[in-house]
Amino acid sequence: MAALRTRGGPVTALNASLNWILLLCFWMSHWFPAGVSGSQPSDCSYYGLLKYLNLTTPSQVLQIIRPVQSWNHTTAVSLDMVMYGILDVDEKCQTVTSHIWIETHWKNEFLTWNPSDFCGMDKLTIPKSLVWNPDVGIDEDTSDSGSIREDPLLILMSSGEAVTTTRQRLTSTCQLNLLLFPFDVQRCNITFSSTSFDTSSLKLGTARNSSVITSLSDEFMITQGEWNLKNMQVFLYDQSNGNISVSKLRYTVWLERKPMLYVINLILPLFYLLILDLASFFISESSGEKLGFKVTILLSISVLLLILNDILPSTEDKLPMIASYCVSVFTVVWLSVLEAMLVGYLSKIDGFCCKEDQSSGDLQQDAVRHEEPAEVQEDTKAEAVKTVLPPDGLQDLLKGILDEVRAAQREAGRRDKPDAQEGRFRRLAKTIDCVFFLLYFLVVVTFLLYLCIIWMNG
Ligand SMILES: *[C@@H]1O[C@H](CO)[C@@H](O)[C@H](O)[C@H]1NC(C)=O
Ligand SMILES: *[C@@H]1O[C@H](CO)[C@@H](O)[C@H](O)[C@H]1NC(C)=O
Repeated sequence: MAALRTRGGPVTALNASLNWILLLCFWMSHWFPAGVSGSQPSDCSYYGLLKYLNLTTPSQVLQIIRPVQSWNHTTAVSLDMVMYGILDVDEKCQTVTSHIWIETHWKNEFLTWNPSDFCGMDKLTIPKSLVWNPDVGIDEDTSDSGSIREDPLLILMSSGEAVTTTRQRLTSTCQLNLLLFPFDVQRCNITFSSTSFDTSSLKLGTARNSSVITSLSDEFMITQGEWNLKNMQVFLYDQSNGNISVSKLRYTVWLERKPMLYVINLILPLFYLLILDLASFFISESSGEKLGFKVTILLSISVLLLILNDILPSTEDKLPMIASYCVSVFTVVWLSVLEAMLVGYLSKIDGFCCKEDQSSGDLQQDAVRHEEPAEVQEDTKAEAVKTVLPPDGLQDLLKGILDEVRAAQREAGRRDKPDAQEGRFRRLAKTIDCVFFLLYFLVVVTFLLYLCIIWMNG
């Protein structure tokens, strides 16, 4: 200072001290706005607002008390849930894993200000931990806490309204109805409720209605996997247990399965195998491949049954239609294998019997042969007498030929006759085959029609 004064004279010294005073004023206005500029109409700093709201030091009271001026005011908490993704539906565990986003609004009656006092500032972001938060949870939630990604901050409006958002990978229990699998539509509940406040202290509500929520979810849906979000609906109700009534907010979500994979993987192959089995009735019995073919079909079906076993839970109260379908196809093919065995067996006994029949038939034939020649010889004699008498040698020759022809005829006749006899079992086998085929065909067609009608209408 002394050096300045000696060098630049009194004017420069005055300037320097003015600068110092201005700097001091600026500094003071920055750090002690209330003290220095309390009379000013507007304060543009966050600090001013925080100080006004008494939030500069964590206050226990603000954290533990439901933010109402009078205890009988109800805190209205409005919740909006948007579904971002359907990640997994586990039929065995009966759970649905989804990715949701929840926006929560409530009013904090202690933290209000007039924006015009603070430079028009109408919102403030503060840590959630500084103030009271509603303890709203999801009843069906079975996810671990690690899957919740809560925003640590909270937006405070000048009217006292607080807004928080939470993203969560939610695993919720949902009783899946698999009767119409894979053409099923699942209806799952996601219920919000407060664990410690009753209806008179905390009332749940929504800011948006069902159709807006559905269209928002449709718009934001990133991944749906094999599912389709069909609809979302919001219900508000009070549930009372004993004398305590709790406000609940239920989102009902309709999920529709995309069935194509199951049709390609399960239903069509089974259907084709069934058709193959039907067609195998036309394989000739003698080729001996019929039974083997049918057994192969039976094995293929059992492989498909294993796939089904991996998907469906073993709840026995309502057997899914597809399980009945698989079991029915298996049973029908199993019956047809049995039938093929029976027919094969019948044909075999027939062959066995015929050999016996043939030997007894031989004896009869021999007896016939002993009788026949007498008549034949008389016939030929008469004919021979009628005809012009050729020379003796020729007559003998002709006679010999005639005998040979008759013998051949008899031989042929003898071979034909047992065939007609042996048809008894084979005919039975053929009848069984035909009747079974018809029955089989009718049962398959009716069953498939029935399934189609149920699946399409469901
Ligand atoms: C902050 O605290 C002071 C005194 O403790 C009180 O007078 C004032 O009303 C409080 N401000 C708010 C916004 O609650
Ligand atoms: C959803 O809630 C309604 C009403 O409480 C109930 O009837 C329905 O069975 C629930 N759905 C599931 C899948 O739990």
